[in-house]
Amino acid sequence: MSKQMWGGRFKKKISKDFFRFQQSIDIDWKLAEYDIYHSIIHTTALKEAGILNRSEAKKLTDGLADIFKEVQRGAFKPDSSSEDIHTDIQNRMEEKVGELAQKLHTLRSRNDQVVFDQKWYCYKEGIYILSLLNVVLSSLNYLGNKYRDITLPGYTHTQRAQIVSFLDYTGAFFCMFERDFERLDNFIKKSSIYIGSGALAGSAIPKSAYSEGIKKFLKKIKPGIKEGKSKTVKNSLDNVSSRDFVIEFLNILSILQMHLSRLAEDFILFSTKEFNFFDLPEEFCTGSSLMPHKKNPDFLELVRGSSGKIYGNLVSILTTMKGIPLTYNRDMQLDKEPLFSSTETIEDELSVMSDFLRGVKVKKGQIAIALEDQELYATELVEFLVNKDVAFRVAHDIIGKLIRYSEDKNINIKEMKDADLVKFHEKLTAKEIKKIMTPEYAIASKKSLPKKKRTSSN
Ligand code: ARG
Repeated sequence: MSKQMWGGRFKKKISKDFFRFQQSIDIDWKLAEYDIYHSIIHTTALKEAGILNRSEAKKLTDGLADIFKEVQRGAFKPDSSSEDIHTDIQNRMEEKVGELAQKLHTLRSRNDQVVFDQKWYCYKEGIYILSLLNVVLSSLNYLGNKYRDITLPGYTHTQRAQIVSFLDYTGAFFCMFERDFERLDNFIKKSSIYIGSGALAGSAIPKSAYSEGIKKFLKKIKPGIKEGKSKTVKNSLDNVSSRDFVIEFLNILSILQMHLSRLAEDFILFSTKEFNFFDLPEEFCTGSSLMPHKKNPDFLELVRGSSGKIYGNLVSILTTMKGIPLTYNRDMQLDKEPLFSSTETIEDELSVMSDFLRGVKVKKGQIAIALEDQELYATELVEFLVNKDVAFRVAHDIIGKLIRYSEDKNINIKEMKDADLVKFHEKLTAKEIKKIMTPEYAIASKKSLPKKKRTSSN
């Protein structure tokens, strides 16, 4: 057990089992970078407040910069016997600068550090997720444009409904991910940081000293994140109590996950022999140890399956936070596992998804077979009659009966002779039927949609 940041008032040593139970270093070490940021800002604030002299502040800042370099190189290895990342860095500083490190935590609380660290984590990872989403959006664009001349059956209730264009089909997912992008972008734009809550009641260090520390630090590293200016981050009790930013972040990721999962489900379905519309890229499929013919869509299944984990993580934090009294409570330590888990899972999914989408092949020939289905054009037949001044409900009924007749007699509407057709309506002729019951007509007859521009397909 490494040195702790508390203990003076205790007569007994902490129980070994309990110590292990309450440790968080194996999880929160991922916040090392941001925890160092907090320490650097705090050191400047202590100097501004006259608590540290110039040389002490420099020594501490240099020590922190050393640890920061380790983190950047990926060489940072936390001591697994530390209680948490805040303790770990404090102990390391003692190794680096000796007794002076004892001054680093002056008038500071881990409650203030942890919320600062997590805000910064959400901000940084949020930006990374945006960049990954951008690549997925361009892959969808690529796929849609590559097969932009293809039309395919559209479904409601998983039953064939009407013809849609492949570009609209991929465009639907594009729209969903674009909204996810905007949600995350807004979240990032309003991200801000705040230091100086103490444990809950604020600290004796003047606000101006903290502001100076934050200003100097932000100027140096120009991260884009701002100092919190709104009233809501200026209340120290709220600052150490609240994790709604984590919940909001996981909420955005959960909606994004729901969209990823729906895309996965569609592509799984369309790649089955039963549909046979899509050929999935082999690099993202696996085989069976028993059945030699199998090519399983495991990537998509894992994406779909991750919904359980990602929604669970959101519900986990919501539930943890719902009944805890103001202000900080140790329950809140448990928010990190769900936060990291959802973030990392989404990042993994998006990284693979962009390459996956580029490898999907659309089977034009197989889709053409499905497009033969006369029912896909039933609505267009109704519209044709409506254009001939037949009331919609009447037209609907006429075409319904025509389909029924076709099924009963086992004769395709396209094969029917005028004599048969005019019994349903005088304007229904074989010539008109041939013209209407085509994908081209179905697409061209939709006037409510925006014109599609050809975008570059890479
Ligand atoms: N490890 C804690 C957390 O993640 C922060 C430490 C606060 N501990 C404390 N005893 N006040 O929430």
